[in-house]
Amino acid sequence: MTSRRNFLKACLATPLLAATPALTLANAREPLTLTASKTTKRLVPGNEYNDASVWAFNQTVPGPELRLKKGDTLSVDFLNQLDEGSSIHWHGIRNINAMDGVAGLTQPEVIPNGQFRYEFPLNDSGTYWYHSHAKTWSQVARGLYGPLIVEDESDPAVDHDLVLMIDDWFLANDGTIDEASFGSLHDWAHGGRLGNWLTVNGESLPTIEVARNSRIRLRLINAANARIFGLNVPASAFLIAEDGYPVPVQQSQDVILAPAQRADFIIDLGDTDLTIAETLNGEKPYPAAILKVVEPSKPLVTKATLTQPLLEAPPKAIDVSIPLRMQGGAMGNLSEATYKGQLRPIRELAQTYKKAWAFNGAIAEHHDHLAKISIGQTVSIEVWNDTRWNHAMHLHGHHFWIQKEDGSFLDGKRDTYLFQRGEKANLVFVADNPGLWLFHCHMLEHHAAGMGAVIEIS
Ligand code: C2O
Ligand code: CU
Repeated sequence: MTSRRNFLKACLATPLLAATPALTLANAREPLTLTASKTTKRLVPGNEYNDASVWAFNQTVPGPELRLKKGDTLSVDFLNQLDEGSSIHWHGIRNINAMDGVAGLTQPEVIPNGQFRYEFPLNDSGTYWYHSHAKTWSQVARGLYGPLIVEDESDPAVDHDLVLMIDDWFLANDGTIDEASFGSLHDWAHGGRLGNWLTVNGESLPTIEVARNSRIRLRLINAANARIFGLNVPASAFLIAEDGYPVPVQQSQDVILAPAQRADFIIDLGDTDLTIAETLNGEKPYPAAILKVVEPSKPLVTKATLTQPLLEAPPKAIDVSIPLRMQGGAMGNLSEATYKGQLRPIRELAQTYKKAWAFNGAIAEHHDHLAKISIGQTVSIEVWNDTRWNHAMHLHGHHFWIQKEDGSFLDGKRDTYLFQRGEKANLVFVADNPGLWLFHCHMLEHHAAGMGAVIEIS
């Protein structure tokens, strides 16, 4: 077992043969049931380790892969068999506000033994995911997440469509979840809960069988609380989408994924096995998953040339600017902030309320609004990350363009953007979806410690 400092440098346990089977909705109209409950799972192979107590949807981590088609309606009965409140958020979906699943904002939390029907249309294709949106820093860390894939008729034909959900766990020496560190004020004011054990689809270094010379779509999802992953695919690979949204097709073997971000690759396999590695955190690349080449069992698809997507051009004019200065955290410049209507020193905020971060000098609760916007307006959130930490900022219900400090735009749209320390960038979106939308850091401890606010659109 690795120490916390040695994350991603640990020697590997024996590879498992663990292609996670995808549970697909046979009929999109039939409601599916997702039940949150406690179960156990072996995270670290080997006799000297124990099963971990995890919280899971339908007893599996990740939860079942939901795979539907653009235009389908997703209908899910959520049953909460935990002994605390919970909810499900559909990350990246431009959802109906009442179905967005933010406990305490768009719905009351679903109480123990309670249930809630989520039902909404899937208007965008791409790689999304679902996760608990109640006490996320604990519930997501314990395993309450799963993939949500929306297919489109125009998707490139592939032989294998694989989802890799990547997570890091902070484990005790016996391979169980380190419970004592939940809620650590140190983590909340620094980089969040960073794990010491890497899993892909809940397994340690899974091996997934793929056909020789096949074409693969690889959908990578970062489900970690706070860890930024760098992922390398040593093959002829094309990046085609980020956060579910198409990007100009480009040959690329590397991608950086902040918490909640996704990337889609098309890979043309040869006849050798591929090891997908994590490259950002350790001294050496750390093997994350193996694609093992086997003889094809059916004819392979024709590898059509990938066509460039038509990207929506960013707007030329902005109706509303929302200046947002992110402050606080360890080694930060925040000496006091407003919380519950009162200006309080940072020491009191941290020790009494476990708050460490602020937007524009204020620590928000769900009911505090960053801005009220009229429907249809073009909005620019002018973010300045005036902290010593990276932050993965996520806007619910919308996809945004990213405008760099020099005025240029990144290609495509996203739902989560990683701000480097000190970075200034504008998140530009058309406020076309009414409701109360959360805007928060997806480093889940940062959110819990103050990095969240609500944009109201009506
Ligand atoms: Cu992945 Cu507030 O969400
Ligand atoms: Cu953050």
